[in-house]
Amino acid sequence: MSSKAYFDEVAGDWSEMRKAFFSESIREKAFAVAGLEAGKTAADIGAGTGFISGGLVAAGMNVIAVDQSDAMLAELKKQLGPASAVDCRQGTAEALPIGDAQVDYVFANMYVHHVEKPPLALKEMTRILRPGGRLVTTDLDQHEFEFLRREQHDRWMGFKREDFKAWLEAAGLVNVNVESAGGNCCAASCETASPAAVSIFIASGEKPC
Ligand SMILES: C[S@@+](CC[C@H](N)C(=O)[O-])C[C@H]1O[C@@H](n2cnc3c(N)ncnc32)[C@H](O)[C@@H]1O
Repeated sequence: MSSKAYFDEVAGDWSEMRKAFFSESIREKAFAVAGLEAGKTAADIGAGTGFISGGLVAAGMNVIAVDQSDAMLAELKKQLGPASAVDCRQGTAEALPIGDAQVDYVFANMYVHHVEKPPLALKEMTRILRPGGRLVTTDLDQHEFEFLRREQHDRWMGFKREDFKAWLEAAGLVNVNVESAGGNCCAASCETASPAAVSIFIASGEKPC
């Protein structure tokens, strides 16, 4: 099964599933690191059903939500309301459907460990940022829970923070920081009794002016 087929299949259940995986404090930390200013434009990449997008709308932002899965984006619209300030665009990591330097913030929660080429995905997210804009992504530290690849279509078993930092710098960002988000991503396995608990990091950087 492809990643898109997997996420199309779970789209209707995703909002419930994710509540078991991570808490809303992750989103609050991401927004605090970004220093949100109402009225600006933010992109939510790998948006799913709108965990990040919904918070951004509530904070008075204009939002562009991108996901490979049309089923996820349809759920997002259903849950946030068709009239919400979210512009949903189907697209993939390697060619985001947003022009150069169009947004003030880029967010991605639990997305990069699903893409084929993380450095390329981060470069693409940097491309759409305006000079002075901020990229903030929350993702998994490196772990050994192999079942997440089989059961949840993870492509990467988390990341080393130093690799992630180097990829953000190579993408052209400055003031790069990767630190603990202070929480875990928790997932039960169909195969084993012991659930996974993987620490989450928050990575950020600025596009130079
Ligand atoms: C684990 S979910 C996270 C969803 C959402 N960010 C959240 O926090 O609930 C990962 C999302 O990334 C999307 N995704 C995975 N690989 C992608 C790719 N290569 N291009 C675009 N979207 C992708 C999936 O369709 C899915 O909706």
